[in-house]
Amino acid sequence: MRKAAWSTRYGYYLVTIASAFSLGNLWRFPFVAQDNGGASFVIPYIFSALIIGLPLVLAEIILGKAYKQSVIGAMDQLTKESMLAPKLLKRTHFWVWVGRFANYASVLLMAYYAVICGWVLYFLAQYAMGVFGHGGESQTLFQELSSNGYLQVGLTMVHILITAVAVSKGLKEGVERSLGWLMPLFLALIIFLVIRSLMMPGAVDAIRFLFYPNFSGISSSTLTQVIGHVCFTLSIGMGTIAVFGSSLRDDSKVSQVSVRMVALDTAMSLCVGLLIFPIIFTTAKHTSGPSLMFDALPAVFSQVRCETFNCGELIGMAFFLCLYIAALASSIALLEASVSNLVDRHGFTRMRATRRMGVISFVVALLPALSGSVLVNFSISKMSLMRFFDTVVVNWILPLVALGIAMAVGFGMKTEQKKKLFVDADQPETMTLFRDWQFLLRWVVPLFIIFAVIVNIIGVITG
Ligand code: PHE
Repeated sequence: MRKAAWSTRYGYYLVTIASAFSLGNLWRFPFVAQDNGGASFVIPYIFSALIIGLPLVLAEIILGKAYKQSVIGAMDQLTKESMLAPKLLKRTHFWVWVGRFANYASVLLMAYYAVICGWVLYFLAQYAMGVFGHGGESQTLFQELSSNGYLQVGLTMVHILITAVAVSKGLKEGVERSLGWLMPLFLALIIFLVIRSLMMPGAVDAIRFLFYPNFSGISSSTLTQVIGHVCFTLSIGMGTIAVFGSSLRDDSKVSQVSVRMVALDTAMSLCVGLLIFPIIFTTAKHTSGPSLMFDALPAVFSQVRCETFNCGELIGMAFFLCLYIAALASSIALLEASVSNLVDRHGFTRMRATRRMGVISFVVALLPALSGSVLVNFSISKMSLMRFFDTVVVNWILPLVALGIAMAVGFGMKTEQKKKLFVDADQPETMTLFRDWQFLLRWVVPLFIIFAVIVNIIGVITG
């Protein structure tokens, strides 16, 4: 069995929560919600986080906790032990393939995630150098960044290096310790900024945009976008939660951990919506897509003024520093998922596995990193390479892997075994919860995902 990757249990708990609350909430949620017309995305998103996300988080934790291995090894074991799997599934190692796809997804995601982390580093550096205080304009800065291929590749490389060092060496304790005080600070900072933002004139329009039911923005891909985003933001379908589950103590309360994680993550996304959209409606900025967060936020930072000096810049710096550390925790969890697979199943040393996965991630990351410069004229289905990566991984691969995980844990694992890991003798209500969970996992999650994927395919075919 693999040695625990984290120095303390609390440390891993923090890293998992931090890796859930990260770029998915701050960077991705606002622009996907905007693309899909606001409330027509946000309302199904809240619903899906509970009905789809929560059962899947529980399924991955149970998978890791049951087999104490990374996701491919766990799926392999599940196939061997499964009583219910039809012969064909056993012979084709179907579940193992689900695990492998989870692994591929983590590598692809790591690659383009690293590019966005590079952007965060860049904005952090701009605040640290006082560029915004001297009239720097966020939209111009962002354009300069995305059209500069060398800079993007350099920043991506720096981020992958930092992540690889943290995964291979003892830096984890440092990351854990800094997360312990940084995450509460980050949450407090966001709440403060939300309050500032809600005092802007555009706040009412923003609230209406986010929560007033309106179905004008719905398209054939909306449902898969919702499911994909739920997987992305809750870190489902890439094996990272299974690694977390494998390091949990036998008596830990899985339902409690999962409910907290889903509730906190979803609440924070909604807060981020209330932070970004009042700015957009107030300043009437024409911005959308992956640059949305970077274009919008400096406007609220610059509004905070103190008597003697410009606190806005300090707040901007603190914000991007916290965001970077949270994104680093995500990257560590992502790289850890594929590294632990090489260590568990192929006997690699941790160092060698990290080197290999680091290099692979960097090579794959060159495509999205260069999508605004050298490869700017290269598009697939009218999407830039960056958007194409995001669409393929989040809207297609993650929902399908999630479907596989739901079926494997729902039908493949023995009910008794799951019950033992799930039900807490001191809390009789966990028994009812277990039954509801199993029902959702076996029927609601798969049917919902299959329906969403079919609607999306029909949309693609009929153009
Ligand atoms: N959930 C993270 C986010 O919201 C992304 C992530 C996915 C992190 C998978 C780790 C594993 O940014």
